[in-house]
Amino acid sequence: MPTIRIPSSHGAYRVYCSRGALARAGVVIKELGDSSGTFVLSSPNVWKHWGRALAKRIRGVRANRTFLFDDSESAKNLATVELLCRALSDAGADRRAVIVAAGGGVVGDVAGFVAASYLRGVRLVQIPTTLVAQVDSSVGGKTGVNLPEGKNLVGAFYPPKAVIADSEMLATLPHRQYRSGLYEIIKYGVIADAQLFRFLERHMLALLRRDPSALARVIPRCMRIKARVVARDERESGLREILNFGHTVGHALEAATGYRRFLHGEAIGWGMYAVTLLGLATGRVSESDAIRIIRLVASVGPLPPLGGIPVAKLRRIVAGDKKARGGEVRWVLPRGIGKVQRGVELPWKLVARTILELPDIDAKARG
Ligand SMILES: NC(=O)c1ccc[n+]([C@@H]2O[C@H](COP(=O)([O-])OP(=O)(O)OC[C@H]3O[C@@H](n4cnc5c(N)ncnc54)[C@H](O)[C@@H]3O)[C@@H](O)[C@H]2O)c1
Ligand SMILES: [Zn+2]
Repeated sequence: MPTIRIPSSHGAYRVYCSRGALARAGVVIKELGDSSGTFVLSSPNVWKHWGRALAKRIRGVRANRTFLFDDSESAKNLATVELLCRALSDAGADRRAVIVAAGGGVVGDVAGFVAASYLRGVRLVQIPTTLVAQVDSSVGGKTGVNLPEGKNLVGAFYPPKAVIADSEMLATLPHRQYRSGLYEIIKYGVIADAQLFRFLERHMLALLRRDPSALARVIPRCMRIKARVVARDERESGLREILNFGHTVGHALEAATGYRRFLHGEAIGWGMYAVTLLGLATGRVSESDAIRIIRLVASVGPLPPLGGIPVAKLRRIVAGDKKARGGEVRWVLPRGIGKVQRGVELPWKLVARTILELPDIDAKARG
């Protein structure tokens, strides 16, 4: 089974990444060593599909308890964290407990933050069940929850002890959720891996069908890229910025529509169009490479429309984005396939003009 070793400031951890990897869950947890109990944190929705399989895999693990919580974005908050910490305390979880986060990015972020804060930190195993979680949120160690003031404003860097990413678990994912993860996969191709990009160009239809062999090629590759970037910049002081390719406009679109119109990946799809046009307008990327990026994004399927979102609102959000440094927004722009430049400052006029062009570009790419 392909495993990926990820170094981190809290010690290296392994990612078990293949079809059927869930079968190893019990062994992986046992291999963590001396534990007083295993506490699975998941959601009713994920549990409905995968609870039986997961429970079976960890049957032999000591003192097993399961707590289910709502994994909608609106429940990704401190109240849920408190509820889970109290449940752990009532169940007698001590410092030698192991927390298993089984679910998508919301479960991973919430349960990860619980693991980081309960008794100042207990061991964490991530079992990501969405494509986004398998290629992105389960590695890298970012955990946290939202405040009414904004997304992910309270959290901790807290790497897991192991990650078990089983692509079979994606079979039950609603199609729109699944597609949303494909945009993040395209992102990895553009920022770091021309070969992955070419593979995506050739095999997007197979990926859209969730073809196991196409997934087996792509998921570990994305995890490796993320692992490499994060290993060199765990706390997001520099290189890690490239993972935000397409995210400046993407985050603004999500926030401007109250996180209701777009799934995260869909907003990133629009965001990748935007930075590609910006790369073209500023002479960083060739027209032929820009066309390839735009075509690949379009090939994932239709994006929710941009209509009714004032550009001025996007500007206010982008300017207030926590990623803005010293008042300047730092853009990540393509320089080719597999190459980006980070820390680019741009005049808002150019950005605004580009955003207004997006619906047209999308229509042309599909036409
Ligand atoms: N920590 C990070 O580095 C990081 C990175 C990217 C995203 N995130 C966070 O992740 C969250 C988004 O996560 P997501 O895109 O994985 O979606 P999600 O966790 O919101 O899950 C989407 C939906 O799919 C359901 N679901 C999950 N797995 C399923 C399965 N196997 N079968 C059927 N249904 C399933 C969930 O119950 C939910 O309804 C956001 O809160 C975002 O901020 C964090
Ligand atoms: Zn993202």
